[in-house]
Amino acid sequence: MTTSLRDLQERGLGATLRRDAWWVAPALTALVLGSFAVYSTWAAWVGKNYEWGPYLSPFYSPLVNAPWFPFSPAFLILIFPLGFRTTCYYYRKAYYRSFFLDPVACAVGEPRHAYRGETKFPFILQNVHRFFMYAAVVFIFILSWDVIEAARWPVNGVMADGAMAPGPRAFGVGLGTLVMLVNVILLASYTFGCHSLRHLVGGQVDCFSCARGGRARYRLWHGVSALNRHHMLFAWCSLFSVALTDVYIRLCAMGVIHDVRVF
Ligand code: FES
Repeated sequence: MTTSLRDLQERGLGATLRRDAWWVAPALTALVLGSFAVYSTWAAWVGKNYEWGPYLSPFYSPLVNAPWFPFSPAFLILIFPLGFRTTCYYYRKAYYRSFFLDPVACAVGEPRHAYRGETKFPFILQNVHRFFMYAAVVFIFILSWDVIEAARWPVNGVMADGAMAPGPRAFGVGLGTLVMLVNVILLASYTFGCHSLRHLVGGQVDCFSCARGGRARYRLWHGVSALNRHHMLFAWCSLFSVALTDVYIRLCAMGVIHDVRVF
């Protein structure tokens, strides 16, 4: 007698004939995504130690002054990158599996028998991803500007409290500058490989050579597609890099570590 997928579904969540460790991937995903959510919320909440010398944490960029807002202004910023990641096609798959267990893995019983897709509230709101993508592209330029600023060192050095000493600034690179640079490269690789962006530049075109600006659109689509093929990899790498960049700057600001001046 054979067991069909429908049989497994009817037996309920976790029913499977699989003998491999299928639960490791969703468990690890839940652990990493959950840890990132806790850390980023804490980092935004504390509202201090987010800058040192010419460095600014990506969680607080751009710096906003919002005295009317009762919480840390970082929350006003984080809503855009977090909205972008939360509605990302890849992350949707990851957290549907790891947090909702629906479906938890291939050929493993699910918590419900009917499939409704994302056609009902609240999941229909995932369609706002394209609008978060527009904001995320703007953030790439903002964070790139932060890297340029992080390569402009105060000639009179950095004071004990982490503030830049008054006076002119000159070109210089510290380890933090490189950390911020790698972070923005990974974030750009993730953002510019977005499925929505790929559709925006190359979708709805049956024939590039017949469309207006077709050659440029083809090149753009080709570039986005190249990044899109590794979207999952860049999703994870950029998640780690943005958290580690904040950690590095925070530890410098707290005096736990000392930044290394490269040149
Ligand atoms: S699909 Fe992942 S960022 Fe748009």
